[in-house]
Amino acid sequence: MHRRTVIASIGATVALSTLAQAQTRTAGSKERIAILGTGSLGSTLAECWGRAGYPIVLGSRTPQDQRVTSLLAKLGSTVSAATLSEAARQASIVVFALPWPAVRTLMPSIGDLTGKIIIDPMNSMKWVGAYPHPPDIATSVSEELQSLAPGAKVVKALNTPTAANMRDPKRAGGHVSIPLAGDDVSAKAQVAALVTQMGLEPLDVGPLVAARYIEAMLRLSAGYVAYTRGKYFEYHLVPVKT
Ligand SMILES: NC(=O)c1ccc[n+]([C@@H]2O[C@H](COP(=O)([O-])OP(=O)(O)OC[C@H]3O[C@@H](n4cnc5c(N)ncnc54)[C@H](OP(=O)(O)O)[C@@H]3O)[C@@H](O)[C@H]2O)c1
Repeated sequence: MHRRTVIASIGATVALSTLAQAQTRTAGSKERIAILGTGSLGSTLAECWGRAGYPIVLGSRTPQDQRVTSLLAKLGSTVSAATLSEAARQASIVVFALPWPAVRTLMPSIGDLTGKIIIDPMNSMKWVGAYPHPPDIATSVSEELQSLAPGAKVVKALNTPTAANMRDPKRAGGHVSIPLAGDDVSAKAQVAALVTQMGLEPLDVGPLVAARYIEAMLRLSAGYVAYTRGKYFEYHLVPVKT
């Protein structure tokens, strides 16, 4: 290849990678967040982080659908919508606000998530008699998700409170803890910062294997709702000074 052509091609590659990096940030330099799912949790997180100034791209099967466009009109100009794979491509933080059973099937079409932070707020359970039990997986949803996206940094977080109390923690008395777990320390710190911006209280409880117990916390609170026929609680974890 001619030297000038090589230089031009290197220049084009650098320009493309700079463009890709720029696409995950905005002028104010807050990281763009992709939220896959526009339901109760996805729309709540978009509202909370949109309010805090983060550019948000919502991933949907039907981004042109009237339900999604009305949601965008409500959420304001910092929130856009795209297909699931396009939303994930545009951001370095990707939230799976989706039903876990759908994710296994969807994963191959979502694209390469290598290097990205995945926030996993998903819950899955099977009811046996009066109480919810673990789903038909031996580990946790987060560990399964990590094995489907081995190059990503999965952080379990935000699966325990209700979306309404995430939007307004004062409804639950003001102190709502978010236990989070993951194998990448700096990814957990970034997720903890996002949680704090929502007015919630993050607590790093360990590596990704701890997701098994965080998911069990939700099964306990869901079981309590069934047991009491409608009462519920949120978790407030109080680290004791030693
Ligand atoms: N809601 C809460 O209070 C809360 C709190 C903590 C954690 N979570 C967890 O968050 C996740 C989402 O819960 P949610 O309450 O937001 O559910 P939801 O209101 O039913 O919304 C689910 C979203 O997933 C999309 N979806 C469903 N099946 C899909 C598929 N096969 N392919 C692509 N997209 C699909 C739906 O898209 P369409 O609109 O196109 O159907 C919708 O946007 C669950 O794993 C749940 O356990 C929820």
